[in-house]
Amino acid sequence: MEISLKGQVALVTGASSGIGRAVAEAMAAAGAKVAVNYHSQPEEAEKVVAGVESAGGEAIAVEADVSEPRDVEAMFATVAQKYGAIDVVVANAGMQKDAAVAEMTLDDWRKVIDVNLTGQFLCAQAAIRQFRAQGQRPASKALGKLICMSSVHEVIPWAGHVNYAASKGGIASMMKTLAQEVAEDGIRVNGIAPGAIRTAINAEETEGEAAKALLKLIPYGRIGVAEDVANAAVWLASDLADYVVGATLFVDGGMTLYPEFRGNG
Ligand code: BGC
Repeated sequence: MEISLKGQVALVTGASSGIGRAVAEAMAAAGAKVAVNYHSQPEEAEKVVAGVESAGGEAIAVEADVSEPRDVEAMFATVAQKYGAIDVVVANAGMQKDAAVAEMTLDDWRKVIDVNLTGQFLCAQAAIRQFRAQGQRPASKALGKLICMSSVHEVIPWAGHVNYAASKGGIASMMKTLAQEVAEDGIRVNGIAPGAIRTAINAEETEGEAAKALLKLIPYGRIGVAEDVANAAVWLASDLADYVVGATLFVDGGMTLYPEFRGNG
């Protein structure tokens, strides 16, 4: 059995670093042409493109602030024009702006909701319009695939991160609602909820003493790497997952199994 995305086009938002970058690279390795969205790091996005090309794949970098409707529209138009269609959209771009609730500024609340939740909504809307407009394509059983990057914090409350946790809880509900709404078109909407994956977003928590405390929350005994999530994304996007609709795949080493309850409670 082979996982293949040959003949398909994947657009990954927030793909200049971290999980998005690994997802873009893995989709390319599986044979997809890849659009590497970035907002503030064009050089990093170009490195991802160069890496894909040197491995024999095809990729383009495309700028967009996913919280800006006009940017999102232009990004989809650019990718559709370049590659003729879009089969897979991974709404991944996200950020943290952490603060205790009493100190959190309204700007930091809004920014995180805008990018993480509204950004995914805008990309989902554009993706669904694009899938419907282009129609069925030979390389994929589904009309289109949308993957919403969530977090274990769609279910685990997270003190000091209320904007982030609220955005991910919103993504969980949005993902299922969209899946229910567009499944009849043949569009598969699913989510991935990563746990502690070592990237720039949590660099401080995943090194040294902090990493030891973090490991107590992970039954499987290791901090994840971006490739753990990327492999799940490739599978979800592929025809091997053709009957998977409206599901959230937790890629978290068991973090959501509440390991503090081992021998407790
Ligand atoms: C956050 C990380 C955190 C992880 C586990 C992710 O969604 O972005 O900062 O380490 O959840 O708590």
